Amino acid sequence: MNRQFSFYICLVLVVMLHSSLQAQEYITVRTKHNALVLEVTQTKEVNTIYFGKTLTNEADYSKVASQYHQGNDYTGIYNAIYTPSGSKNLLEPALEVTHSDGNTSVSLIYAGSKTTTISKGITQTEIDLKDPAYPFQVKLFIKAYFNDDIIEQWSEITHQEKGKVILQKYASANLYLRGNNDFWLRHYHGDWAKEMQPEEQKLSHGIKVLDAKLGTRANLFQPSVFMVSLGAPSTEDQGEVLFGGLEWSGNFRTDLEVDPLNNLRIISGINNEAAAYPLQKNEVFTTPKFWYTLSHSGKGTASRNIQDWARNYKILDGKGNRLTLLNNWEATYFDFNETKLKALIADSKKLGVDMFLLDDGWFGNTYPRNDDHAGLGDWQENKKKLPNGIGTLVQTASDNGVKFGIWLEPEMVNPKSDLYHKHPDWVIKQPHRAEHYFRNQLVLDLSNPKVQDFVYNIVDNLFTKNPDLAYIKWDCNAVIYNAYSGYLKDDEQSKLYTDYVKGLYSVLERIRKKYPKIPMMLCSGGGGRVDYGALQYFTEFWPSDNTDPLERVYLQWEYSYFYPSLAMAAHVTNWGKQSIKYKTDVAMMGKLGFDIVVNELSDKDLMFCQQALKNYNALKNTIWQGTQYRLQDPWDHEVASLMYVSAAKDKAVLFNYLVKDRYDNGSHLPIQLKGLDPSATYQVKEINVYPGTSTVITTTSYTGDFLMTIGLNPNVTTSHTSVVLELSKE
Ligand code: GLA
Repeated sequence: MNRQFSFYICLVLVVMLHSSLQAQEYITVRTKHNALVLEVTQTKEVNTIYFGKTLTNEADYSKVASQYHQGNDYTGIYNAIYTPSGSKNLLEPALEVTHSDGNTSVSLIYAGSKTTTISKGITQTEIDLKDPAYPFQVKLFIKAYFNDDIIEQWSEITHQEKGKVILQKYASANLYLRGNNDFWLRHYHGDWAKEMQPEEQKLSHGIKVLDAKLGTRANLFQPSVFMVSLGAPSTEDQGEVLFGGLEWSGNFRTDLEVDPLNNLRIISGINNEAAAYPLQKNEVFTTPKFWYTLSHSGKGTASRNIQDWARNYKILDGKGNRLTLLNNWEATYFDFNETKLKALIADSKKLGVDMFLLDDGWFGNTYPRNDDHAGLGDWQENKKKLPNGIGTLVQTASDNGVKFGIWLEPEMVNPKSDLYHKHPDWVIKQPHRAEHYFRNQLVLDLSNPKVQDFVYNIVDNLFTKNPDLAYIKWDCNAVIYNAYSGYLKDDEQSKLYTDYVKGLYSVLERIRKKYPKIPMMLCSGGGGRVDYGALQYFTEFWPSDNTDPLERVYLQWEYSYFYPSLAMAAHVTNWGKQSIKYKTDVAMMGKLGFDIVVNELSDKDLMFCQQALKNYNALKNTIWQGTQYRLQDPWDHEVASLMYVSAAKDKAVLFNYLVKDRYDNGSHLPIQLKGLDPSATYQVKEINVYPGTSTVITTTSYTGDFLMTIGLNPNVTTSHTSVVLELSKE
């Protein structure tokens, strides 16, 4: 071969290589600090080649993979954007199907994509994938909220096969994070009154599954929210950390798989356990959204991203007002009548809250709801307790200048109820099996449109009869046992868990169409159902029946990573041995309410609560809409400390709580504040001072620079166990 010829060959090869590189297609999704880059491979598969900090040079993304020498990917799809099962895949799939002819394989080939701007700062990328051998398609959605660094992913699955296709697993998202060899997972476990207990560990090879199989009250043992730190456990301000969660109020499953190449695959979606989903020709199955955010400056940033995003887009009326309230659950339990309630309504006025909330126990006649064994399902006022109905209570509330709200648990039924006897086929229970109860009750079958109508009408009738009704606490105390629907056909029973949630959402959708603004609390025996799927219909949630304020410091702390304070109901109750001041100070970091017998309060306690409510009203916008900084966590410190700063940085509130009450414990060192204007001067004033006691902080001014560099000592001691400070720019 002469020299000229070999030069020519080389040139051709370079040109070929160049054009093949050029032919390569990339799909890039950007947020303020991050880029998610997908590659359409030579074989037309779509893989994630990068997810991380935005690189300055666009062309650099295609070079990332070449810098990793982690071994062989035998399939070329370890990093698939939506891993199909049964063909060449070797790892955990995102999608598993049985075609109408019984074939159990699926392959997904790129068929095009487009990105559109949905509104300012929000883009949506749609990627079409097709099975080359079957008329079976998946459309992937990637919605990016630029300013919040949040991405939501989900999919639509459809087909035109002759018979039905069975979806065996149908995840929402399939993420791929490159290895630093170390991935630290922080996730949560719980039970009644023990929600959001964190655990953190390094992920080892194989799969760690976070999931729920309880149907309703799905988060009783575990919520879907989690964090993964890359490299080393993140702190509040340092480290690379991904937060994620599924917007679904039912069974979920998140697989965190450290693959043979030491990279992390995260697959999240509806739990496929007992949930194979038959899909008819041209039917479109839309999976719920999986949200995630990646921070390069610790958990604080990730959490502030989520709180902003939640208020702006996810929680109903996230920028709006909330009502302070007096609830009667712990004050009376089931033991009340009209006279007693009227007195409590007057007490609400005396206390200074916006609303009285009537809890469980107001309904049922054949089977009166005098304890939790009877009455659920029979939503007529109990004639003995309320001879004049709800109307008179709503009127009394209005006469007292407060609003009136009511408790409902419309998805459930006690066997001791008229409803149970009238519509046994509406109840979820397996034939040939003994009924098994959770809190003496069973779950109604929301896959049945008639049951959906029934549930909708409970709410609609209440509002029709009482147009001034101002609030609903929507409870859900039981899990699903013996999952069987009298409505679904026998070969479609495995749709129940999924269709239940769809049915629930469709009812809530109808309610919201007619009553778009009515505030509603999402409750599930405490925090058994808290997720952004449900919160699009609710203004707030009940984090836990555990209202011991010390426990609440921890619980609310962990919830606050994922949810903003305006959505987190926090009540002052008789739980815990702490002072009313400590209890109120803790509840004030969330959406404040009371559940106490007001007329049993001492004069000073009452005066304190009244003043605290005034302080809260003056500061609630900063607490609800401000930027939250967690300063000292309760796990590793004697004093937990957190603050909220208004957007204009002219107001801030600092909450400090002693959490380890041992000899000489307290705030021995200054606590560095965050988020203030360094050049401004702030007046620091103690509020919520108990009547007759003196302040532990004298009102003084400091520069923002001083407060953030040196810090401030809130003077928490074993005799001043909580201190609340208001900062105002001078
Ligand atoms: C659940 C709720 C409580 C209360 C009771 C009423 O446990 O979490 O707040 O409403 O039900 O039965």
